Amino acid sequence: MSQSSLVSVEYMGDVAWVTVENPPVNATSTGVRQGLSDAVDTVKDARVAVLSCAGRTFIAGGDMSEFDAPPVEPHLPDVVQKIEDSEVPFIACMHGNVLGGGFEIAMACAWRIAAPGTGFGLPEVNVGLIPGAGGTQRLPRLVGMQAAIDMTCSGKIMKAEALAELGGVDLVAEDPKAAVLDFVAKLPNRPQSVSQRSVAAFAPDLLATSRQVLEKRAKGQQSPLENLTALSWSVEPFSTAQPKERARHLALRQSAESRALRHAFFAERNVSKPNLIKSVAPGDINRIAVVGGGLMGAGIATAALIGGLSVTLIERDPDAAKAAQYRVEGLLQGAVKRGKMSEAQLRDRLAAFRAVDSYAEAADADLAIEAVFEDLSVKQQVFAELARHIERDAILATNTSYLNPIEIFDGIENQSRCIGLHFFSPAHVMKLLEIVHTPQTSPDVVATGFSLGNKLRKVSVLSGICDGFIGNRMLAAYRREADYLLADGALPYQVDQAMRAFGMPMGPYELQDLTGLQIAWANRKRNAATRDPNERYVTIADQLCEMERFGQRTGKGWYRYEEGNREPIRDSEVEALIETYSGAQDITRRDFSKEEISSRILAVLANEGALIIEEGIAENAEAVDMVQIHGYGFPRWRGGPMNYCKEIGISETCANMLTVAEESPGSWCVADRLKNN
Ligand code: NAI
Repeated sequence: MSQSSLVSVEYMGDVAWVTVENPPVNATSTGVRQGLSDAVDTVKDARVAVLSCAGRTFIAGGDMSEFDAPPVEPHLPDVVQKIEDSEVPFIACMHGNVLGGGFEIAMACAWRIAAPGTGFGLPEVNVGLIPGAGGTQRLPRLVGMQAAIDMTCSGKIMKAEALAELGGVDLVAEDPKAAVLDFVAKLPNRPQSVSQRSVAAFAPDLLATSRQVLEKRAKGQQSPLENLTALSWSVEPFSTAQPKERARHLALRQSAESRALRHAFFAERNVSKPNLIKSVAPGDINRIAVVGGGLMGAGIATAALIGGLSVTLIERDPDAAKAAQYRVEGLLQGAVKRGKMSEAQLRDRLAAFRAVDSYAEAADADLAIEAVFEDLSVKQQVFAELARHIERDAILATNTSYLNPIEIFDGIENQSRCIGLHFFSPAHVMKLLEIVHTPQTSPDVVATGFSLGNKLRKVSVLSGICDGFIGNRMLAAYRREADYLLADGALPYQVDQAMRAFGMPMGPYELQDLTGLQIAWANRKRNAATRDPNERYVTIADQLCEMERFGQRTGKGWYRYEEGNREPIRDSEVEALIETYSGAQDITRRDFSKEEISSRILAVLANEGALIIEEGIAENAEAVDMVQIHGYGFPRWRGGPMNYCKEIGISETCANMLTVAEESPGSWCVADRLKNN
């Protein structure tokens, strides 16, 4: 008998098969909740009911597009409770992923049978929430407090096999539907409902020590701690604790953190489909050539190999080729050590890789990307060589950070195939890929860039051409305002502390010390001739470079470092230099609070992002936010600078930016998008 278009019920003798079919992931949308609720009524005459899903997965979560609106009946906790209370016991028959509401439903069933490798999780924490349909109350009762903390507070997915060992799954079977038939033939006595069980004894300090660990790891994010608090209620009766969980879940849907994380979730999906390539079919890339096997080239080659491509790496001479070969092998072996790749996969990937010193060997590449020195004439020579050897329509890509791709490709035949693919270091780890199009690049080449990014499991963002593209241009603005703060009264450790307190993994000065001060110095020198003479230019960073204080590698930078220790130590020499600088500029130094520092820097980031959108470099705010989150460590739970600016109010951001601009006249242009809002 059919129930609703999303949930159907069919009888096989006295067994009722309830099937959810709501592609792509059988989310618990209103129709599914209603269908399940009706199904419980329908199966009343059966001996047992089996709940399974059509398609590639069991119910893998809620429908997040419903989260901004008030909840609609029937509510998930009521449906879950109805399944648990049903006189006809339910068996969850699962495959694919059993996530969020799906897992909450499965825990309300009397038995759980799963295919090998089925993933179980309560990943609500990833979108700033706690489960809202009994997940935090049933999970510790089912598998114990420690495993419930591991899963709920970090969103960890656990495989059916591991969960079975903890008693969370009754049977793991190659063909779960066939296993269900055997199971119902000898149906055991119905176990006590999970909600009525008590949580197994756990160490008395488990919650307190977990809280300390989570506080440290969360860097200001609240939802991991919210999940822990909800888990702690599971020692109370279910009937009093579950309504508290539900109320908190609903309140958290309105929180800035959850809104930010949901924004990031949707933005990640949307940026991969920029308007420029709507309805453009990508080409297929299987073989690539990478020119230059240094830090970036080796990382790009590794990412491509892990993504399943064949890679030919071209270096300057046999020795450099050999060094690049070792570098890539080392990176792949690192992936094996981290459990990301098996030994067999390593052998397969090494067979798809060669490092050579001749362009002729790249003749069959579908795409060639250069990662040679950041020098215009070297890059131009590389492309001239490539153009001589590879097919006329093979894509030519540059990984340049700052040079203008139009100049790099000058003189190359068929420029519609030329593109920038800007990876971030380390390229096999960092998620961001800026796809830079020139006015000549054809949309299908851009689409192919996105499809390549997808194969390499990157978050790809389209960028037009400007100095530093989206990310490094914003970084330059960030650093500029940080330097103004130093000149006006702050010290490096204060700026770093303020940005860490905001949620950045590191402050700008400790980060510069980690990555080295030289590249930015070279850029400032390169831009000196074209810099607006009215712009305020703080020379402190240049002075440090002149003193060969290049950061951790030289033992000194914005901080000093003790031998063999990466811990930054405040350096009175640097602080005196900063104060002398302010004095020489006739600046009366003043105190800045942490909040003042971070709100100024965030205003500058949002303003630069807004200018980048106004100039058409980025298509929208989502693109800017994704660049910041996936390339620059911007806290995901803040949603990126554009989302954050909307969250605190565009008018407040604009007011902060106007203050910043007023205090450094001639240095900042305030974006219309801020002013006109
Ligand atoms: P690197 O100095 O580590 O590597 C450059 C490699 O290119 C060297 O192995 C060198 O032997 C090779 N090479 C130079 N000329 C060559 C030629 N004519 N033919 C073949 N190989 C040649 O430099 P890195 O850091 O890997 O940077 C490479 C490019 O990537 C630069 O354009 C840089 O701006 C860009 N980039 C760098 C990032 C970073 O964090 N280092 C991040 C993103 C982009």
